Amino acid sequence: MASLIRCLVSAGPTREYFDPVRFISNPSTGRMGFALARAAAATGWETTLVTGPAGFDDPPETQVFHVESAEEMHRALGLRFSECDVLIMAAAVSDCRPRRRAPGKVKKGDMEMCVELEPTPDILKTLGERRRPDQLLVGFAAETDRLEAEGRRKLMEKRCDVIVANRVGVPGSGFGAADNAVIVLTRSGAPQRMGPAPKDELARQLIACFSTMISKEQRA
Ligand code: C5P
Repeated sequence: MASLIRCLVSAGPTREYFDPVRFISNPSTGRMGFALARAAAATGWETTLVTGPAGFDDPPETQVFHVESAEEMHRALGLRFSECDVLIMAAAVSDCRPRRRAPGKVKKGDMEMCVELEPTPDILKTLGERRRPDQLLVGFAAETDRLEAEGRRKLMEKRCDVIVANRVGVPGSGFGAADNAVIVLTRSGAPQRMGPAPKDELARQLIACFSTMISKEQRA
């Protein structure tokens, strides 16, 4: 009998506060990540979702952890990573964060002096460094151009098995849009185009695709 597949999904943006009321973030709404969690749970996978602030109800049959910053997301995923068979990193993690968080609201005139930035941890890359060969690691790459080349670079750099590359900055695809069109890049196979299609439909197609990639040992 096939063993239960344990799937860890990340979704949404992260917020990197520089004072109690202001933060650096991006336009991600979590729509694609939530659709993937719903599709994974619907396919019978034991699904855990770690999400940044997103505007959707928690998916049914899914354990959900709400986080805000990249640091919190890193910790939440790191704690659960070794237990999962599939990691789908659909979150739009903020690439930078303020070096310090002021205890009180920063005055407008002081911002330039106060808001010094540093990179956030690359969660997927760090998890890729401690991955097991039987785990399937899926990353997303939102690009404005050189979609395939950038996707391939991230596939290698982050030790993923799959990068789902999609175009951002054009109407009808990417952040917050109802539809998406993607290129699925793997280490050995030919690039596979999916969509344009509603994100829910695309999520079902992607989960079916990942399902065929999970190693035979995993299912034995
Ligand atoms: O931002 P970037 O294009 O490098 O994102 C590619 C993949 O890496 C995505 O799956 C994203 O969730 C992940 N990522 C991450 N930690 C970061 C930045 C991106 O895990 N700090």
